[in-house]
Amino acid sequence: MLSYRHAYHAGNHADVLKHLTLLAILQQLRNKDKPFVGIDSHSGNGFYNLGSEPARKTGEAAMGFMRLWQQRSRLQDADLLGDYLTLVADVNPVDTGATIGNYPGSPAIMQSQLRDDDHLVLMELHSTEIEHLRDNFRRDPRISIHHRDGFEGAVALTPPTPRRGLMLMDPAYENKADYQQAIKTVQAVHRRWPTGIIALWYPMLGQSRDLSGLVKQKLGNAADSISIELTVAPQSDAFGMHGSGMIILNPPWQLSERVNAALSKVQPLLQV
Ligand SMILES: C[S@@+](CC[C@H](N)C(=O)[O-])C[C@H]1O[C@@H](n2cnc3c(N)ncnc32)[C@H](O)[C@@H]1O
Repeated sequence: MLSYRHAYHAGNHADVLKHLTLLAILQQLRNKDKPFVGIDSHSGNGFYNLGSEPARKTGEAAMGFMRLWQQRSRLQDADLLGDYLTLVADVNPVDTGATIGNYPGSPAIMQSQLRDDDHLVLMELHSTEIEHLRDNFRRDPRISIHHRDGFEGAVALTPPTPRRGLMLMDPAYENKADYQQAIKTVQAVHRRWPTGIIALWYPMLGQSRDLSGLVKQKLGNAADSISIELTVAPQSDAFGMHGSGMIILNPPWQLSERVNAALSKVQPLLQV
């Protein structure tokens, strides 16, 4: 039984880290005049409304992306960060001032960077989320949508054709077994697709529940892997998720420098 719904968490600090990193990777894939494949193993529904009841209930977007949005005139010039803000502005054609309605999830960010010959594969297991995902993306012939287990599909669908591309794996980590499954799946995909860029998101929690060290220990020694993290508070069991990270196998050149330059402007704004 899947209970996680990303609508409650969209636009939080973890999404800011994940979506900045995702955009940076996609921009570097677009730099070459060769087609690429994007694979999103845990897609969610693709678009979120940050003014919706679930988003207002947790207040996570207000503590996350909204703080950047309120400073956008000052942040707009900054390279990757400016591109991220522009991408969100593009899905909000009406200027709503300090608040914002639509927020693009990872499938929408990937779609925004596709050229005619690029291709995107979206997977989602939740029976309601998959319907929203289909409604949002089925008219785009460059995109295929699968109602299936993203861990199983990640392995079954790799290596893709063409071989150039990226897999984003963004599990909900609803239970501890998800960590082992994510690690095993990344290892299996890397074996089958040694040149693919694989980006796995992981949460950073209070001491008694934190397994981010395990993820980095198991995947950090794969040839050519990096991790990029964003924290918004000191680690504490009382606080919950004080930060998160992305571990990236086969990162594009200078990915870490580009994302960390953006994060140096983001981090002071997102501190709790
Ligand atoms: C963190 S959300 C994804 C957010 C999305 N990647 C984004 O950045 O906009 C995780 C999603 O994975 C879905 N999910 C959970 N278990 C799954 C599985 N085994 N296979 C595929 N999707 C799964 C959940 O329903 C949820 O929509």
